[in-house]
Amino acid sequence: FFTNQAPKNLIGKTVVVTAGPTREKIDPVRFISNHSTGKMGYALAEEAKKQGAHVVLVSGPVELPAPAGLDVVKVESAEEMYNAVLKYYDSADVVIKTAAVADYRPKITYDHKVKKQAGDSSIELERTKDILLELGKRKRNQVLVGFAAETENVEEYAKKKLTAKNADMIVANNVKAEGAGFGTDTNIVTLFKRSGSVLDLPLMSKSEVAKRIIGEITFLLKDMDE
Ligand code: CTP
Ligand code: CA
Repeated sequence: FFTNQAPKNLIGKTVVVTAGPTREKIDPVRFISNHSTGKMGYALAEEAKKQGAHVVLVSGPVELPAPAGLDVVKVESAEEMYNAVLKYYDSADVVIKTAAVADYRPKITYDHKVKKQAGDSSIELERTKDILLELGKRKRNQVLVGFAAETENVEEYAKKKLTAKNADMIVANNVKAEGAGFGTDTNIVTLFKRSGSVLDLPLMSKSEVAKRIIGEITFLLKDMDE
């Protein structure tokens, strides 16, 4: 008979998804962050859950409700996200790094509200850890999926990230394109795989994009079993 059930391709697999932005504190009232809303990452976590996976969702600060039936680990900074992901890495079969991790953080975080002064000022920054890069270095048999949010030269930058981070797939989107990027319910992405294959997806809902990405990941998992 006819059924609408999603295929359960991820039974017995542990999938770690990171989502949302990170926040890098300047002082108790200010931070550095970005426009990520977490929608794409949450959609991926839900789809992985539907397909039977044990899902760990490592989430930066977002407005979205925590999806039922998954382990949600709330983090704020890139450093906290790094620690949370590393904790689950050895037991993970798949890691999907959807999060928009801040690349820089203030060198000093003040424990009091910084008062303004006459004239200009600047904040000294230092680099955060590149979580995906670290995961790529330590990769054993995990399928590692990164994202690339670009505003130009999407293909070139995505391919560079694929190699530099030792990922199995990079999901690239041009965040300037209409219907793609931050906060929208739709996205337009291109999947770049380590094998060299490139898959251009048309404009579709983020839940539909999530289905396609999880579909590709199940292929990658099967390839590894062979
Ligand atoms: N990423 C990460 N840790 C960081 C920065 C990025 O894990 N400190 C991950 C993101 O989660 C994403 C991928 O790396 O999966 C690409 O992120 P992106 O910001 O597009 O690329 P960067 O390598 O940070 O380079 P740039 O921002 O200069 O384009
Ligand atoms: Ca970045």
